Amino acid sequence: MSEDHPLFEQGRHLLSVSQFTRENLRAFFDLADAVDPIAKRQAVCTVLDGAMLGSLFFEPSTRTRLSFESAFLRLGGEVTTTTGFTFSSMAKGESIADTSRVVSGYSDVLVVRHPDKGSVAEFAEASTVPVINAGDGAGEHPSQALLDVYTLDKELTDRGKTIDGCHMAIIGDLKFGRTVHSLMKLMSLYKDLTFTVFSPVSLELPTEIEQYAVRHGHRVHVTGTVVEAVTGADAVYATRVQRERMTEELAQANTQGDLLNWSILAEANNLEAIIMHPLPRDSRPDSYDLSSDVDDLPGLAIFHQTDNGLNVRMAIFLTALGVSIEAVNLTTKQRPWKATLRS
Ligand code: ASP
Ligand code: CP
Repeated sequence: MSEDHPLFEQGRHLLSVSQFTRENLRAFFDLADAVDPIAKRQAVCTVLDGAMLGSLFFEPSTRTRLSFESAFLRLGGEVTTTTGFTFSSMAKGESIADTSRVVSGYSDVLVVRHPDKGSVAEFAEASTVPVINAGDGAGEHPSQALLDVYTLDKELTDRGKTIDGCHMAIIGDLKFGRTVHSLMKLMSLYKDLTFTVFSPVSLELPTEIEQYAVRHGHRVHVTGTVVEAVTGADAVYATRVQRERMTEELAQANTQGDLLNWSILAEANNLEAIIMHPLPRDSRPDSYDLSSDVDDLPGLAIFHQTDNGLNVRMAIFLTALGVSIEAVNLTTKQRPWKATLRS
């Protein structure tokens, strides 16, 4: 374990959730809690004054890019960003290695999203500064899993429960959904979990992820219907069909209405379940995703997840740049503008 970057066990880059242990995950969540006044606009912080984030997104993103960039700015740093291949010199044939070396010369940390599995690790190899994986194809999305588990922990605690011993239903595109892969691996650090999983044909959970959970002592039950998967679950994690990663034919085969809605939860007698989704939710008429008719249910946690993303991503930067919790200088200032406080 590096002394400068004590939470990312295998070095200063954050490439996979497998870099975490149960102990350093708790310490990481404590850091995410400590920056909550900044996320809630109750305090300002300039601890990253003078630092520059290089934000490189070669795939569409709303919340990951904007929350990473907001997190860096709210800690007092500055941001440079490029989105898509078209506007970077990769469109002129520049390699990942050259791109990474060049941009790391301008930045103190890089956040990278790229459509190919393993590509962010390639960026890390050539970079002179820490690299954070913001999603590498169907591989991993570690910052999403961190905010998912951070949120799940809070939701369960509010209900007098813990992640240890919980029953999690995971439904949707489990094959290409990288958030599911990272989530099941990170949750495997806990004890005695039951996963009930449902996916449409051809979008099944990769065997290696199922075996990872089983090797860590958990139960994984593959179910034939969503009702079966969500029955008795403490929480349901729904995912979008990752159309951009499959053939048009397979995408067309997955246009059969709601993946999860009020009636399905009612039929499973589980209208109280915690409802999670990494988002975006596909709201187009031919999509197969979480219906918005669940939005008034008491367990809806999807926007708690997005809000918590700010805390978690601030904690990632502090960790990657070796800032201890004690060095986080919160100050409260009278401002001429009013912050709208989130709940
Ligand atoms: N936003 C998440 C990701 O980039 C999930 C999704 O797109 O469905 O992996
Ligand atoms: N959850 C997530 O990664 O969202 P974006 O694709 O909008 O960044």
